[in-house]
Amino acid sequence: MFPLNQPEDDGLYIPEVGAWSADKHHFLRRYIDAFTTSMRRKWPEMHYIDLFAGAGIERLGGGDLSWGSPLIAAQATHGFTQLHLVERDPKHFDALRQRIAKFRQSPPPHLLCGDANELVRDVVAALPAKDVLNLAFLDPYGLHLHYTTIRSLARHRTDLIIFFPDHLDALRNWKVVYHDQPDSNLDKVLGTDAWRRIFTDEPPSRCAELLRQLYEQQIRALGYKHFESERISGPGGRRLYLLLFCSKHDLGAKIWRGIASRKRDGQGTLPFG
Ligand SMILES: C[S@@+](CC[C@H](N)C(=O)[O-])C[C@H]1O[C@@H](n2cnc3c(N)ncnc32)[C@H](O)[C@@H]1O
Repeated sequence: MFPLNQPEDDGLYIPEVGAWSADKHHFLRRYIDAFTTSMRRKWPEMHYIDLFAGAGIERLGGGDLSWGSPLIAAQATHGFTQLHLVERDPKHFDALRQRIAKFRQSPPPHLLCGDANELVRDVVAALPAKDVLNLAFLDPYGLHLHYTTIRSLARHRTDLIIFFPDHLDALRNWKVVYHDQPDSNLDKVLGTDAWRRIFTDEPPSRCAELLRQLYEQQIRALGYKHFESERISGPGGRRLYLLLFCSKHDLGAKIWRGIASRKRDGQGTLPFG
């Protein structure tokens, strides 16, 4: 695993995030390490795409500082050919731009300030037409990653690590916020309105699992064959979201299963678990 020093307060903007952010970065860092190490001889170019890139450093649960996803990717031992980073909030974007400049990259990162669901077109247009393998980390705070955005990325060979806020947003808000809006965020994220039948017809205890299956089915329709997921929970084991891994190739899935067998608390998965 590539080393990461503890980030220091550099005086730029640092957002506060939940302590559970460390879990998603645990899996991201391990996957980047294994992915770049094992694929670099097979692929002439490997690009990293982060459409909800953040500020580059975050403060975990009011305590320690931690590298954000783009700066984890920038510090991989076997670096990506290029990083493509999109962030909508100008304050986050400005901090990210200054921080990433300290990690010299050639070519320099492709930085875009604006809405990921629109700017994904510019990101995809900047990728080479062939002989490229990509990793996309798609990590919004809530239901903001549109299905059409995943469809744009899926035209290339792109492994996906997706933050899916099922308990954090969909299950909590479906009735009050989304159900009566014909083109709600949940419709845009899933690319279908079939979720309404799930919430209306099924017992609440089955809804999270059925929602995961529906999302998977939608992404499968874009050519993805392999799906893995990690449940990320907050204080007291409160379920928050799923980290979903999607790949079109066997090797990507094999790498994910290898890295995900070790959790952040050092526990391994039991072979019969
Ligand atoms: C969970 S944070 C990202 C954290 C970052 N990926 C990391 O792991 O360090 C989500 C970020 O997405 C940004 N964001 C929210 N909606 C967006 C959109 N539609 N397009 C681009 N960025 C967006 C927010 O400003 C925020 O910085």
